[in-house]
Amino acid sequence: MKFAVVVSMSPSGSTDHVGQVIAASLKSKGVEVVSVDLAKQSGLESDVLERLGNDRSCLFVGSPVYFSRVIPPVLEFIASLPLATGGHAVPFVTWGGASSGIALHDLGVALQERGYGVIGAAKVLAEHSMMWRFENPLGENHPDETDDRLVTDLVERVVDKFSAASPVPALPLEMLAYQPPQAFTEMSKVVFAKAKTNMPAKQVDEEQCTQCGVCAEECPVGAITLAPYPEFADNCICCFKCLRICPEDAFTNDLSMLDTRIRERARTMDEHPKTEMFM
Ligand SMILES: Cc1cc2nc3c(=O)[nH]c(=O)nc-3n(C[C@H](O)[C@H](O)[C@H](O)COP(=O)(O)O)c2cc1C
Ligand code: SF4
Ligand code: SF4
Repeated sequence: MKFAVVVSMSPSGSTDHVGQVIAASLKSKGVEVVSVDLAKQSGLESDVLERLGNDRSCLFVGSPVYFSRVIPPVLEFIASLPLATGGHAVPFVTWGGASSGIALHDLGVALQERGYGVIGAAKVLAEHSMMWRFENPLGENHPDETDDRLVTDLVERVVDKFSAASPVPALPLEMLAYQPPQAFTEMSKVVFAKAKTNMPAKQVDEEQCTQCGVCAEECPVGAITLAPYPEFADNCICCFKCLRICPEDAFTNDLSMLDTRIRERARTMDEHPKTEMFM
C-alpha cells in the first residue's frame, strides 16, 4: 500500500481518535496518508480521488454507531464516490457499549457497491456520547491503550497484505453480520430519520443563551441557524454536540430517561467482544 485516505465524522471525538491511530500506524509503515473530517469537507478533492480505488491504495472510513446503524453523512460520502474497479477499504466504527448494531455491515455493503472490497474492519468500544452527564457512562475511558494496540495491529496486517497479494482478496461481508439473526433483522429495519424522533427535542433557554454562535459553528452537519436563537434543521443527526459544548449550558433537556434506556439495551444485548478486529 502506497497511499491511504482516512475519512470519518466524529461528533464527540472517539471515531476521530481511532482514525488518528490508523493514520499514525499507516505512516509508520511508510504509507502516505490524507485524513478527512466530514464535518469540515463533505467529499474528497479530485486529485485524492484519482489516487484511490486501485491496487496500491486503501480507503479507511469511520462512523459512530447511532441507533445500531451508520450516521447518514458517512453513507452519503460513500455513495458520492465514483465507482471503482478493484478498490480496497477498511471500515471502522466506534460504539457506546449498548450495541454496535449492524453499522460495520452497513459500511461494508455501501463500500462494496462503490467497488471497494473490504479487506479489514474494526469495531472499537468508546464512551457513550449520550451519557456525558451521567456517572459511570458506558464505555468510559475507551478507546484505551489496548484498543489502540488492536487497531495498530490490524492496520499493520492490512498493509502487509498488500505485499503478499495483489489485488488483496476481500473478506466475505457475512463476517460483519455478527449480530444474532433476529437482532440483525430488527436492526435492518431501523430508519435513521424515524429513530431520531424518539430523542428528546432540543430546548434552548433564551434567558441563558447569549447567541454566541458556538453551537452553529461546531454542529458537524451545519444544522443550526441563529434566528436569533438556535433553530435546528431536519438534517440534524442528533449527536448532542450542541448540548455538550454550549458555554452557557443553555440547553435545558432532561436526558435522564436515556440513561436507563441505554443501560437496559446494553444488558439485553450483552455484546462481546467489545473491541474486535476483522481480518
Ligand atoms: C444519537 C446517538 C445514538 C447512539 N446509538 C448508539 C447505539 O445504538 N449503540 C451504541 O452502543 N452506542 C450508541 N451511541 C454512542 C456512540 O456510538 C458512541 O459514543 C460513539 O463512540 C460516538 O462516536 P464519536 O465520539 O466519534 O462521535 C449513540 C450516540 C448518539 C449520540
Ligand atoms: S452555544 Fe449556547 S449560548 Fe451560544 S448560541 Fe448556542 S445555545 Fe446560545
Ligand atoms: S443540531 Fe446539535 S444535535 Fe443536531 S447535529 Fe447539530 S450539533 Fe448535533
